[in-house]
Amino acid sequence: MRPARALIDLAALRHNYRLARTRHGTSALAVVKANAYGHGAVRCAHALAGEADGFAVAFLDEALELRAAGITAPILLLEGVFDALELADAVRHELWVVVHHEAQLRMIETTPLAMPLHIWLKVNSGMNRAGFVGADVAAAWQRLQASGKVREITLMTHFARADEPQVVSTAEQLECFEAATRGLAGTRSLANSAAILGWPRAHRDWARPGILLYGADPMPGEANGLQPVMRLESAVMAVREIEAGDALGYGGRFVAERRTRVGLVAMGYADGYPRSVPDGTPVAIDGQPSRLIGRVSMDMLTVDLTDLPAAGIGSRVELWGRQVPVNRVAAAAGTIAYELLCNVKRVRFSYQD
Ligand SMILES: Cc1ncc(COP(=O)(O)O)c(C=O)c1O
Repeated sequence: MRPARALIDLAALRHNYRLARTRHGTSALAVVKANAYGHGAVRCAHALAGEADGFAVAFLDEALELRAAGITAPILLLEGVFDALELADAVRHELWVVVHHEAQLRMIETTPLAMPLHIWLKVNSGMNRAGFVGADVAAAWQRLQASGKVREITLMTHFARADEPQVVSTAEQLECFEAATRGLAGTRSLANSAAILGWPRAHRDWARPGILLYGADPMPGEANGLQPVMRLESAVMAVREIEAGDALGYGGRFVAERRTRVGLVAMGYADGYPRSVPDGTPVAIDGQPSRLIGRVSMDMLTVDLTDLPAAGIGSRVELWGRQVPVNRVAAAAGTIAYELLCNVKRVRFSYQD
């Protein structure tokens, strides 16, 4: 059987959730959108079901998958609903719904609902992606209250740069949120992972941890005690020696400077390992640090075994996990851990509880 697999450590997931909740100090919605950042939403939600205060997904279908799998905790739709039918479904399945623009607000006002909703009213405090601005926030809040279709309102915002402690924009967003929501009743929710770890001033009633649950520190370099949840691994399936001057793989990008033992590994960009990484990207082979050499192909990649004489066919290769932080691979690929984790596919998933 092809040895490419993603090992998911559910105990690490619970550890990270507890850490988020403790650091933030109040309730926390575990963000499990995008199939739990590629880790398997149903398995992750079940692993957290005993302790998570609730979950957040992007849209209705993601929530319905969790409900169908028996998840009864609150689930928030971060994008809200797209039409009146979805709104009815959200009521039926007792989902919490973000309202971030005028059309959604009007939909609530004009659609008859079987039961009042818990609405999360989104404030655009400076990210300028979604949400109501300035005086429109209080106006939207009033209209929701007046609609008679709302049982509770949580006021929320989202930070654009909370992972950059030195920039002023998070403090500015905080002030903007405070000004727009002053005097409005309702719980508050501001903090994503980076703000949970780095912005105590942003801690309110609800945290919304995403990436930190999966053990990728949004502020790498800090010792936050997160545990990686996914180990992406495979094995060496063939070994060959190439001479100094020989080129390796597509485009002949890597040219050996010395006699080089090359390990061929069953993992490629079709599995979600990024093609954009350069020679030298870290891997771990049977627990020993080594490097990727040559371009990543669709199903295979090549690693340097020259200084690992004991390594050979069958040697375990960690692409990311506890030894190779996914953040390092992401940096090498010119992207973020979020994207790498979400993109893992085709490999076998195994869960350890
Ligand atoms: C509104 C909202 N809250 C929370 C999160 C979780 O963010 P993070 O994964 O950075 O913790 C996201 C993710 O994109 C989001 O869109």
